[in-house]
Amino acid sequence: MDTIEIIQPDDWHVHLRDGDHMRAVLAHTAARFGRAIVMPNLKLPVTSTEAAARYRDRILQVLPSGARFEPLMSLYLTDNTRPDEIRRARDAGFVHAVKYYPAGATTNSDSGVTDIVRCADTLEAMAEAGMPLLVHGEVTDPQVDVFDRERVFLERTLGALVQRLPRLRIVLEHITTAEAAAFVRAAPENVAATITAHHLLLNRNAIFQGGVRPHHYCLPVLKRERHRQALVEAAISGSPKFFLGTDSAPHARHTKENDCGCAGVYTAHAGIELYAEAFDAAGALDRLEGFASLHGADFYGLPRNTRRIVLERRPWSVPQEYAYGEHRLVPMRAGGDIGWAIA
Ligand code: DOR
Ligand code: ZN
Repeated sequence: MDTIEIIQPDDWHVHLRDGDHMRAVLAHTAARFGRAIVMPNLKLPVTSTEAAARYRDRILQVLPSGARFEPLMSLYLTDNTRPDEIRRARDAGFVHAVKYYPAGATTNSDSGVTDIVRCADTLEAMAEAGMPLLVHGEVTDPQVDVFDRERVFLERTLGALVQRLPRLRIVLEHITTAEAAAFVRAAPENVAATITAHHLLLNRNAIFQGGVRPHHYCLPVLKRERHRQALVEAAISGSPKFFLGTDSAPHARHTKENDCGCAGVYTAHAGIELYAEAFDAAGALDRLEGFASLHGADFYGLPRNTRRIVLERRPWSVPQEYAYGEHRLVPMRAGGDIGWAIA
């Protein structure tokens, strides 16, 4: 198969940032995806419906003319998010999820949740409102090995959460382990997961290939090959519980090539093409449409897209960098080839 036509995909997890940075990256996402769940971890986190409305307006203002792209907003959960805010968000219509960052787990997560038990009323209101909870599934306990933080989160936090709130829709974001894939598969229907292209294509060797590779550092960190294989299995399984979320996370070059480099891999420049590569390598191109274009919309209760796109096997060279406001941004596969392109 050298070409494949699919319903236009959506990205159920993306970081668009703000200001000049957003201007630089939004076109990549909007050129590929019909919709995207926009992460709320701005420097000033998006914790209210009003803030989400203003952020949405800023996105719409810098959308390239002619782009048909709908940003789906998310709210940033804190210890102080009140049930009222959830109802306001639901009534607004453009907020489609609430993101749970354990405090300190990742980029701009300092205002995150210190103990999810404190959010009991708010989670109840979310279940009531049909508002999905998106989970950054890692413990922050410094005693826990960085490669085990996702697995331990399932054991310490997520299992109990799923049991306590059987009506709450939960998406375990950017899963990276065989244990997370198994957890989601075994969980009830209201629990799903997103998988990134970089976690389907790379294992942790990529962080240390001939030296430290800061552009392959993200959170949750890449894991060993057996986990990558389990993620591919889940993605190509046809299960509606697994869907596309790039977690494209742009950072200026100098902030990654740094004494203390930021976490995040930028993939929006090839946000569907990289998945086509991964599915092709697994001999499962026929499963791409479900994963990329159907399962997410169904889970969120949104209509499926009607436009279609054609992907073709046609290698293209990825630039060494893109402009990123006044800085530069290094995309995944910089200076190399990607085997699939949009026709
Ligand atoms: O690698 C990551 N980058 N993981 C996250 O959870 C956050 C993201 C970011 O915002 O840069
Ligand atoms: Zn993310």
